[in-house]
Amino acid sequence: MTTTSARPIEIVPSVLPADFSRLGEAVQGLEKAGVDRIQWDIMDGTFVPNLTFGADVVAATRPLVSVPFEAHLMVHEPTWILDTMVEAGCRLLIVHAEACLHLHRTIGRVRELGVAAAVALSPATPAAHVEHVLDMVEMVLVMTVNPGFGGQAYIPTMERKVAELRRTILDRGLDVDIEVDGGISVATVAGAAGAGANVLVAGSALFKDPAGLGHATDELRSLATAAQRG
Ligand code: DX5
Repeated sequence: MTTTSARPIEIVPSVLPADFSRLGEAVQGLEKAGVDRIQWDIMDGTFVPNLTFGADVVAATRPLVSVPFEAHLMVHEPTWILDTMVEAGCRLLIVHAEACLHLHRTIGRVRELGVAAAVALSPATPAAHVEHVLDMVEMVLVMTVNPGFGGQAYIPTMERKVAELRRTILDRGLDVDIEVDGGISVATVAGAAGAGANVLVAGSALFKDPAGLGHATDELRSLATAAQRG
């Protein structure tokens, strides 16, 4: 990882739009499409008004592919679920700043488990909220929709928060990726990458592309790379 602004662009699918009766085939299709990681949206019905999957579902697909897994934990007070997500094969755990009473302690627990740690910010939460844990994480996730559902409209005003975080990270010489998630598509990816995000999560834009997952992945990657170069 480099500390300059031109960090490697990564395309990370959310499996939320996948056919849940064929999740194994879905992750194999994503790996074949050349994605960099796969994001599992873990929703508990409390932190967000939706319920998705737990560690068992993630673990069931783990042996089918070698692409790394990340868990986006939309889970209230997620400490109880960290160990099982690591056992299920996730190598990056993302906790929400708004869901943790003791964010510094929770991130410390993720690091103790020997995997990469990241912190997520819902749209209303300011960048300053994570200032004192930036040196503990590999990545910050800036939500570009309110968490809980796929297929929502991108919130362009989040680009200001991305740019502010990128400046802080550069000023402090930290080695931290910025991920964006929600409404990322060919129409919005350039704005997010141009503001300083280098990891782009996409659900609908990948699964709904009539030309297929590979085409969608390549298109998002080339648009993001071009925008990053400015
Ligand atoms: C929403 C999830 C996102 C969502 C992205 O809470 O965190 O990952 O599934 O889906 P799209 O790309 O369709 O907005």
